[in-house]
Amino acid sequence: MPQKRPSTRRLARGSRAPFGVAQGLGPAPPLHHVLAAQQFDPATLDYLFRLADRMEKVAARGGNNQCRDRIMATLFYEPSTRTRFSFETAMLRLGGRVISTENAREFSSVSKGETLEDTIRILNGYADVIVLRHNEVGAAERAAAVSRVPIINAGDGVGQHPTQALLDLFTIRKELGRLEDLSVAMVGDLAQGRTVRSLAYLLSKFRDIRIWFVAPPELRMKEDILEHLRKHGVAYKEESDLAKVLPEADVVYQTRIQKERFGGRIADYEKVQGIYVLDSASLKLMKPKSIVMHPLPRVGEIRPEADADPRAAYFRQAQNGLYVRMALLATVLPTRRPRPKPGAGRVELSIP
Ligand code: CP
Repeated sequence: MPQKRPSTRRLARGSRAPFGVAQGLGPAPPLHHVLAAQQFDPATLDYLFRLADRMEKVAARGGNNQCRDRIMATLFYEPSTRTRFSFETAMLRLGGRVISTENAREFSSVSKGETLEDTIRILNGYADVIVLRHNEVGAAERAAAVSRVPIINAGDGVGQHPTQALLDLFTIRKELGRLEDLSVAMVGDLAQGRTVRSLAYLLSKFRDIRIWFVAPPELRMKEDILEHLRKHGVAYKEESDLAKVLPEADVVYQTRIQKERFGGRIADYEKVQGIYVLDSASLKLMKPKSIVMHPLPRVGEIRPEADADPRAAYFRQAQNGLYVRMALLATVLPTRRPRPKPGAGRVELSIP
């Protein structure tokens, strides 16, 4: 990372001196709601990733009490394996507790007509942080507008998935040892994939990034992201032939063609389904020091035969989600100083 570490002596307005596992990392960034990838600057990313490195060790020890007495609500209107379980595990490993609904459209009062805003207002009375996955773009912003407690966007329709992008970037840093001078190929459903949108925003903050968007014309990356990259001087190319890109890429970020986003357009889905498949022949084309990533779930676009290759980083990537989400929770929840033990700080008078 190019940024100079901030001094630990002077705290920026709104930042806090961390303690516990974050002690010595410098001032905690003033992070509250986590809504979009653009909100993270390189200094905040650096802090979070150094904390996530430490969280890996904390998790290996079984956890700590950083979030003791804290409650996290996971409010999911769309299915999830990794995001919900890793957030919940993160909170449990930090000594906190979890309340959850995994199918809020059916199992919360939304089914009776309650608005998202009212649901969030109610959860504000119960939880210290709310992790929200929703089917509508902008749902996290709507939730944040009425929420005192931090809202963490765990995916909003085809909008963004900022915490996935954080763990993706953390994985690249851990696997390749750098976040600059990288060629990244994003492959598959770029039009409807929220993870690639968030990752493109984060990558644009680093030097010498080159991005290939590999997709058929129907699924090409949307113009708002391309415009953002042009504005920030990030080199990108659109390509439909994956084989051309594989020998150049440091990171091949494969994605699933998302059938559920096509609605009734089954013929459109069938036209593009299976268009890009990574197998052992694809890996032969890739550089020896490169990685294959995927936000998962996969449904055939990476063949299981690729899993044994050391460059297949997608399961390690999912594991990293736990450490990054532990770091995020520890940062958005205000640190409480440990309660002094009874009698601590009392000055004993010695009478000669
Ligand atoms: N990567 C990801 O968001 O996976 P889930 O949908 O299983 O949470």
